[in-house]
Amino acid sequence: MERVKLKETKIYNLSEFNWIEYFKYNNEHLLKLDFHINKELSNEEKELITPSIKAFQIGEGSEGKHLRKVVKKFAIKNKYKEYIEIMNWFILEENRHSQTLKKYMELYDIKPIKKIWIDNIFRILRKMIGLECEVIVLVTAEMIALSYYTALGNTTNSKLLKTICKQMLNDELKHIVLQSDTLYRISNKRNKVINIFVRKIRKLIMKTTIFVVWHKYKKLFIKGGYSHERFQKDCMEYLNESIYIEKNGKLSPTCN
Ligand SMILES: [Fe+2]
Ligand SMILES: [Fe+2]
Repeated sequence: MERVKLKETKIYNLSEFNWIEYFKYNNEHLLKLDFHINKELSNEEKELITPSIKAFQIGEGSEGKHLRKVVKKFAIKNKYKEYIEIMNWFILEENRHSQTLKKYMELYDIKPIKKIWIDNIFRILRKMIGLECEVIVLVTAEMIALSYYTALGNTTNSKLLKTICKQMLNDELKHIVLQSDTLYRISNKRNKVINIFVRKIRKLIMKTTIFVVWHKYKKLFIKGGYSHERFQKDCMEYLNESIYIEKNGKLSPTCN
């Protein structure tokens, strides 16, 4: 099983990439989801996916109040006014993800949850400093999501759920490149020592998240073809690719 890679975004020239055009196009070319097929999931599969799908459903959705505030501040300060519209599209996509999972859960009477401690910690962390903190936490969750939706798609025979996972992977790959580009715009004007420190923090956040997510949802990951080592390795490789973009403002040639 190959991991999905950032090169699949086909973003060859990041500094020229038109994010608004991309989001508009993506939104008009979504994979068809037929919610009338609702007998595909076996009881065993339902039991397996329930805890994690509930957690990801809540994690995907957000009004983005704090995010919109810090995005606006950053856009004005850096004369990057299109960033406001770009991030509006991004928030819209995340809420679509949450709605899609909710709709799928409804087919099988899986009740959504209102709060989950790991999601609460993520939300508190995101609001701590400013845009950089928000983006670092977001992109960490998105890199974890790449492995999660790959595993979820592998565990099931449900055609609908497989298609949902495919759409998620397509969208999350782009999001990771977008967040990494924002981190590049922040770090390239800053002292190198601070940047090295921030990268260390990113690694620490990633390692902690890998630990928590694996211990909570390892049953699903194992069924989806992952070992602990494989999960760890894939997530750390995504992080290295993201850090490459943050340092260089382009995708790594080795991942191209
Ligand atoms: Fe998402
Ligand atoms: Fe995302």
